Amino acid sequence: MRRSLRRVKVSCSCQLELAISGSQFQLVGFFTSIFHIFRLKPENQPRARAARERESVRAAVPADVPRLLSLERGSATIAHWSEDEYRRLFENSTPERIVLVVDIDGRIQGFLVARIVNTECELENIVVEQSARRKQLGTRLLVELIERAKARGVEPIFLEVRASNYAARSFYEAHGFQQSGLRKRYYVAPVEDAVVYRLKT
Ligand SMILES: CC(C)(COP(=O)(O)OP(=O)(O)OC[C@H]1O[C@@H](n2cnc3c(N)ncnc32)[C@H](O)[C@@H]1OP(=O)(O)O)[C@@H](O)C(=O)NCCC(=O)NCCS
Repeated sequence: MRRSLRRVKVSCSCQLELAISGSQFQLVGFFTSIFHIFRLKPENQPRARAARERESVRAAVPADVPRLLSLERGSATIAHWSEDEYRRLFENSTPERIVLVVDIDGRIQGFLVARIVNTECELENIVVEQSARRKQLGTRLLVELIERAKARGVEPIFLEVRASNYAARSFYEAHGFQQSGLRKRYYVAPVEDAVVYRLKT
């Protein structure tokens, strides 16, 4: 009876030890997973890094025109041009144009068009794919334009925007553009004032 009691005690304490070491093991496992989650957070993962490296801003080429058109058609708030007008952007004519695209994994997600007028630069159009907005892609395009304008000694950069286009106005203001004028009833369909912004580069 005593022997069997001792066996029970031994077996209980073994189970207890096993339970404790089991939970210690689980605890160690838990902390190891946390460590791995933080160690492999997205920006450190080789695949995420590679994905970021596949994002680039480059000069547009004539083969990009269909994609520029589809991005433009998807946005109600930018100037609408015909396919011919887009194609003419790539002809060596005056005024000189800067056409940039932001490309992620080989897909264009946004573009801008600017023209050089004497010593000034006018930003004529900028758009980012609806689903890709607020991811700093517009910023990447604008920063590239500013750098190119600076390199040529062209300033200021100016633009007109519909008074009700608060998203674009916030975007320009976030980049240091300052309101420099108002053109009454400048736009049609619908009629609306244009706010003029300028940025000294
Ligand atoms: C304007 C536009 C190009 C901005 O592109 P985007 O890639 O979304 O902008 P970003 O992510 O680079 O934004 C940079 C900053 O601009 C400001 N901003 C951009 N969109 C904004 C919005 N909808 N509301 C308020 N602020 C905004 C913010 O300060 C933002 O920084 P945050 O996201 O850290 O707060 C984009 O909204 C667009 O394509 N609009 C439709 C086309 C258009 O109207 N073009 C202008 C014609 S004149």
